[in-house]
Amino acid sequence: MHPPLGFAKSVPMKLPILIHPDPRLKKVAAEIVDSSDELRQLGKDMLETMYMAPGIGLAGPQVAVSKRIIALDCQKADEEPARPLIMLNPKVLSSSEELNTYEEGCLSIPDQYADVTRPAEVDVEWMDLDGTLQREGFDGLWATCVQHEIDHLEGKLFLDYLKPLKRQMITRKMIKLKKERARDEA
Ligand code: NI
Repeated sequence: MHPPLGFAKSVPMKLPILIHPDPRLKKVAAEIVDSSDELRQLGKDMLETMYMAPGIGLAGPQVAVSKRIIALDCQKADEEPARPLIMLNPKVLSSSEELNTYEEGCLSIPDQYADVTRPAEVDVEWMDLDGTLQREGFDGLWATCVQHEIDHLEGKLFLDYLKPLKRQMITRKMIKLKKERARDEA
């Protein structure tokens, strides 16, 4: 996810981030069997890419890795110490009935934001990079972000929560952006 406000222009990234529309963003990502050095390196690279973007969450499919891995850190940079988290096979075990609306953005949909309503609190289980099962309750921006990133593993974008007209409008802008970027690189 993008932070709620502000975004950086194309800066060099550790890993290239796929831009919507892209069929690789629509695929269901594969379960991870166990942790490995390769995965640890990927986790490190994903966090670095996310911080550089800058973003607060990034999912495997966004860097063309169709595996169930997400990176996130939703701490407010100026108020709290960083809390980089890598989750393997994250799963929402339960969600609150109470809902919360946040203006969401996505590193695969640069500079576009829209209100999305999701459960306000979620209980999440995941495997960490040491292969240990973790479980934690999240609320606030953390809850929104972890649900947004888990959606990516299902091939789902925050655009899928919007009305068709708004979704089409944003998709058209992204097609244009991709054309411009391709032209700049040529
Ligand atoms: Ni996203």
